[in-house]
Amino acid sequence: AASSHPESKLLGFRKIPTSTADTFVVPEGYIARPMISWGDPILSGAPAFNENGSQPSSAQAGQFGDNTDGMSFFPLSDDRALLAVNNEYTNYTLLFDHKGKALTADDVKKAQAAHGVSVFEIKRTDIGWEYIKDSSYNRRITANTEMMLTGPAAGHDLFKTSADRSGKKVLGTFNNCANGETPWGTYLTCEENFNGYFAKPEGEQDPHQKRYGIKSDSKYQWHQFDSRFDVSKEPNEPNRHGWVVEIDPMDPTSTPLKRTALGRFKHENAAVTVADNGHVVVYLGDDERGEHIYKFVSKNKYNASDKAGNRNLLEEGTLFVARFNAKEGEVKGTGEWIELTYGKNSLTRENGFNSQAEVMIFAREAATVVGATTMDRPEWVAVHPETKTVCCTLTNNKHRGRKDNQPVGGPNPRAANNYGQIVRWKESNGDNTSSTFKWDLFLVAGNPTVHKDFYAGSANITDENMFNSPDGLGFDQAGRLWIMTDGKYSNEGDFAGMGNNQVLVADPNTGEVRRFATGPIACELTGLTFSPDQRTVFIGVQHPGEKDQPSHFPAGGNRKPRSTIMVVQRKDGGIIGT
Ligand code: FEO
Ligand code: CA
Ligand code: CA
Ligand code: CA
Repeated sequence: AASSHPESKLLGFRKIPTSTADTFVVPEGYIARPMISWGDPILSGAPAFNENGSQPSSAQAGQFGDNTDGMSFFPLSDDRALLAVNNEYTNYTLLFDHKGKALTADDVKKAQAAHGVSVFEIKRTDIGWEYIKDSSYNRRITANTEMMLTGPAAGHDLFKTSADRSGKKVLGTFNNCANGETPWGTYLTCEENFNGYFAKPEGEQDPHQKRYGIKSDSKYQWHQFDSRFDVSKEPNEPNRHGWVVEIDPMDPTSTPLKRTALGRFKHENAAVTVADNGHVVVYLGDDERGEHIYKFVSKNKYNASDKAGNRNLLEEGTLFVARFNAKEGEVKGTGEWIELTYGKNSLTRENGFNSQAEVMIFAREAATVVGATTMDRPEWVAVHPETKTVCCTLTNNKHRGRKDNQPVGGPNPRAANNYGQIVRWKESNGDNTSSTFKWDLFLVAGNPTVHKDFYAGSANITDENMFNSPDGLGFDQAGRLWIMTDGKYSNEGDFAGMGNNQVLVADPNTGEVRRFATGPIACELTGLTFSPDQRTVFIGVQHPGEKDQPSHFPAGGNRKPRSTIMVVQRKDGGIIGT
């Protein structure tokens, strides 16, 4: 791991202390302002938010969805832009006046409308970027929006349901965690814990359903009112979720496209880069204990002057999964990308795969067959804009060292890992399409005030910047690494002195890590995007006040806590982070 260095040239802001307050704190000389909160109207005609929880599904369908997550900024001009934002999930104790205890059919529709993606216009004003309530660009995409399945698995029998004999037309996206954006101007929204919305009340789960976490019941209870979520009745519906979805934010009538060439798992984000040879590379994490890191390489090449041709680059390509090698006790080594192609690497009938479609639909099981490394919950991946070095947050893993398939070692060096780490790799010859790489750990999170051993963290972690469970990750244009946490906020025991969830900024050259922001009570901070001039950063505050914790963010007083996007600027209008 990198050593600490006091004189980072990249980091120019004053570090802030931890916080347990119900506020969003930024460094001296910065200001942070709420821009939009769950329930704010975005479509024309939608009502204002009423926090009593009694608004019907029709209101939520025109309002900003709940639990803001990954987001991307799409410029229209210097002063106007679209923000595309994931709405990951909803919390029934806040969504409904009955707290979820007396669900009706319309309540399920309302919950479905609180999920998905919100696209809305923003404009630069005297106080900074603000959202426009009824722009004709504004759009809500929900768990019921019609989409197409495209790529190698489209039309497969495993996609056919009683409502869709084509195996290509699917309704909705939900549990949209993090995101990506392409050089051709589309938004990628990634389906994560889709399994939690399905229930299989009758019959055993088959091995595929077990690997993807389908249970006999679902906390959301959609299956009680919407039979496509009842796996006993619609066994193929879950196969149609767990994908990366490509959306054209500029056309509110466009059909979102589920890209099956990128594999089905619990997607975190989609980090897109164009390799020097022109192929598009997408790095992908599967956030579950003992799952894997993937890479997609497009068959065709990106051509900046062929806008229409680029539109199908995610349609066809090769998916790989990572294997990390290390000598005993070393936290660096080599690695290889193993191809997930039917007929290769034992992905054959004898091992249960009958086609490329099945390899993509059951990508997790294919990764196991080829011997991929089981990781400590891969969350976001980020690619450095210049060096093309890649980083991935491994958020935590209580199963490490406790389950046979998750031994301690390599990039997952600690048993019962409750702090997380960031793995970093450089592809051979600086070519992001390479089949081999070299890796190390950029940082190992920990608590140096509680522990003296490996659980204190790497040398660049101190009592002044400690945190747990790195999750959101992104580079800004200058190459600063932004780290967002989704960790334990008890501020006790192993987590003593860490406070609420936070945003840190690191210098990838020196290894220095500095705290930039802290969030309100019981939130995670997730979702990060910059204006192209780098003078505004948008930061998402998700689930403040979850589990009945006493948050009233952002309105304060006795108000209901609401997931909110913060606009952060410097008071002098300068570039963020310098
Ligand atoms: Fe939605 Fe893995 O975080
Ligand atoms: Ca996350
Ligand atoms: Ca997380
Ligand atoms: Ca979350």
